[in-house]
Amino acid sequence: MIKINNRRFIGNKTKLLQEIYGAVEKYKFPRNSIFADLFAGTGVVSHYFAEKGFKTITNDILYSNYIAYRAWLDNSVYSEDKIDEVLKYCNSLRADKLSDNYFSDIYGDKYFSINDAKKIGYIRDYIEEHKSEFSEREYFILLTILMYTVDKIANTVGHFEYFLKGKPIDTNFILEPLDLSVKVDGQIYNEDANTLASKIEADIVYIDPPYNARQYVNFYHVLENLARWNKPTEFEGNSMKFKRDNLKSGYSRAEAPLLFKNLIDSLNCKLIVVSYSNTYSARSIASINKITEEQIIQILSARGNVTKREIKYNAFNAGKTDFNDHKEFLFVCEVKSEV
Ligand SMILES: C[S@@+](CC[C@H](N)C(=O)[O-])C[C@H]1O[C@@H](n2cnc3c(N)ncnc32)[C@H](O)[C@@H]1O
Repeated sequence: MIKINNRRFIGNKTKLLQEIYGAVEKYKFPRNSIFADLFAGTGVVSHYFAEKGFKTITNDILYSNYIAYRAWLDNSVYSEDKIDEVLKYCNSLRADKLSDNYFSDIYGDKYFSINDAKKIGYIRDYIEEHKSEFSEREYFILLTILMYTVDKIANTVGHFEYFLKGKPIDTNFILEPLDLSVKVDGQIYNEDANTLASKIEADIVYIDPPYNARQYVNFYHVLENLARWNKPTEFEGNSMKFKRDNLKSGYSRAEAPLLFKNLIDSLNCKLIVVSYSNTYSARSIASINKITEEQIIQILSARGNVTKREIKYNAFNAGKTDFNDHKEFLFVCEVKSEV
């Protein structure tokens, strides 16, 4: 069974969930309070808070993340039998008997072997062609299963900025069901966080934006193209990135501090929790944080009392040397009520 955290995703907070929950526990929010996760990535933070009894609001600018929330963080109906039936059919496919298709033409022999890529493209077309036979939840569950599987077998170091040298081998992958045992009462969005912020009301808002020039859509463009499936035909460079200017984040540009200020000023909530990290080596320009720690404290302080917690490096990293400078902080702001 696939679990929500079985995804390679830069900056995911899987190993920090207890620390994040620990930072808000003392406020003793009653059951069914609303936790909003505006830059939700994998959705693991929302999922953890749902397990703890919170209602959730989950959002990300990438559609590939949104489809996963519709599977993991939704409570609408689906039939396990129907999903199993489709998985059984897909797992019976013989890749060498399939024709070339959109996905294999673009990504075959790069991120995937030709056979694996043909099977991925065939299954993605199958899900789309049979969409009317599925409930919305079933459709998104099937897409999410495919996306997690594609991430797992990709010939990469975990993102799609480039593929590894050497011919990718056939993995003969099979699709497995998702572990949907956590029941979630959630709302899900696919918007720019700054647009969404003023439209929602929550008890806690969790903010975990990108903090440097690296665009998430560049890391996950293959998954984004697979999820959207509108089959663009123009690509950039050897890494085969489709045209994606509308998916690039202002938080990875010089305007980030202003965006952050506008976002914080427009929030309607009792507690704001901000994750802040210097994820990359300070030796690379792309790694320099766009918003400084001082700016975060100053902007949050305009809304209420701010405390800062440092999360120990060892708590979440297995000790890779290039991450030696990696520090992770949580800022918690108790929002002053407006008079
Ligand atoms: C650091 S990651 C979040 C990781 C997440 N907390 C997790 O545990 O998986 C930042 C996320 O913000 C999203 N993002 C970037 N700019 C955004 C924006 N303007 N509005 C909404 N989401 C955005 C990215 O697509 C990415 O998924």
